[in-house]
Amino acid sequence: MAIAVCPGSFDPLTNGHVDVIRRAAAIFETVIVVIAHNQNKTGTFTAPERVELAREALADIPNVEVTSTTGLLVDLCKERGATSIVKGLRSAADFDAEYSMALLNRHLGSVETVFVLGDQNLSHIASSFVKDVAAHGGSVAGLVPACVEEALKARFSPCTRA
Ligand code: PNS
Repeated sequence: MAIAVCPGSFDPLTNGHVDVIRRAAAIFETVIVVIAHNQNKTGTFTAPERVELAREALADIPNVEVTSTTGLLVDLCKERGATSIVKGLRSAADFDAEYSMALLNRHLGSVETVFVLGDQNLSHIASSFVKDVAAHGGSVAGLVPACVEEALKARFSPCTRA
């Protein structure tokens, strides 16, 4: 049974992520979406919040599950019997960032990374941009799933904005 993990910060999940996860779910029998820790990023949503949002947004895809880890991705792959890591690419810049990570994960855990091209109509979407728009009171409709839109509104409402 081919199991893949689809890791990321997902802070928060965007429509670009959902597109890539759907494509991965059409290739692999099981896709485990993993909210993982990126040393270089501070979170807007906690890991449990991100997991909840991703579970709600991806609930209609039967072969997708969502979990989180604070450890190494390759360790989770081993525990879950996943032989592939799926990453979405929006551009050549994404590939540059992913190239070393893919080789590192192969070095650490003999796991192959499979790259999936996202929908070109969603290539402008990034979690960081979405948070910036929401923080400045703009609409993120069409950029994120409805549950994430609501969560961003609540997080950046005038009452909670500094
Ligand atoms: O969405 P991001 O922030 O680009 O995702 C990066 C992420 C979280 C997948 C990466 O930092 C990661 O795999 N973290 C888990 C720890 C790990 O395994 N590090 C070694 C590979 S970089």
